[in-house]
Amino acid sequence: MKPETRPLDGPFGVELLGVDVREPLAPETIEAIDRLMDENAIVLIRNQPMTKDQQLAFTKQFGPLDSGFRKVVKPNARVQEAEVGDISNLAGDGSGVAGRTDRRIVNNIANQLWHSDSSFQAPAAKYSMLHSVQNPSWGGETEFADLRAAYDALDERTKQRIEGLVAEHYALHSRFLIGDDAYDEEQRNAIPPAKWPVVRTNPVTGRKHLFIGAHAASIDGMTVPEGRMLLWDLLEHATQPQFRYVHHWQVGDTLIWDNRATLHRGRAFDLDEPRELRRTTTLDPDAPELKLAG
Ligand code: OGA
Ligand code: MN
Repeated sequence: MKPETRPLDGPFGVELLGVDVREPLAPETIEAIDRLMDENAIVLIRNQPMTKDQQLAFTKQFGPLDSGFRKVVKPNARVQEAEVGDISNLAGDGSGVAGRTDRRIVNNIANQLWHSDSSFQAPAAKYSMLHSVQNPSWGGETEFADLRAAYDALDERTKQRIEGLVAEHYALHSRFLIGDDAYDEEQRNAIPPAKWPVVRTNPVTGRKHLFIGAHAASIDGMTVPEGRMLLWDLLEHATQPQFRYVHHWQVGDTLIWDNRATLHRGRAFDLDEPRELRRTTTLDPDAPELKLAG
């Protein structure tokens, strides 16, 4: 079965048409969406408002669920399920928008750095599914960069330089980068760092891609400054406009991205206005884990 799709308004990604993702899917439809993900890295479903439970049921069909950052920052009362990421600026008690100094609000600001979800853990994330519930009147887009096209466009010398390199990803690195360091020892140690090759290959398509982002903190065998500078240079290259899709949210959108092949970042918005998205994520247990020394 080849589902009906149309390209997104950007260099990659497709919109899936004619599938109600709130109903259980036939195995061949799941398979077809997996193939679309391998080929396109982003699949958008429009105009299908979902409950939390519908979103969880949809996501589970694609693999085991990730509860990611929950080990570091505790959920608020609004969203109790460990497998549902509350990507909102709403207060836990239902009183509206949370204050700017609320730990969750501060913490979510790191989502505005280019990253791959849960690359700081093993297994890392495979698919993230972000569902839009309400949007601010300005800003709050989510941007995606295609790490496959970015890899292809590297010069040969750089491809040789990075082949075989391994980066260490740490959960709080992105937070420290923007000066959010109010974490105690327990939080700092809650998720041990993970190591991933800087160049990886999609096991189905055989296509190579970069694997970098704001959680990547160092490169094995390099001094921290040399490794970070290389990671920054690669990030700057990979996030150029020609590799980028910008998503303007509509209520009822569900956008699925492949965390292996893309980076993403949220854009600033007026923190006084409600923005509410819900994220569910599958793990990528098939990627070979590189054992950490010690
Ligand atoms: C996420 C994320 C960005 C955004 O949910 O993983 O990075 O636009 N979100 O809120
Ligand atoms: Mn994210």
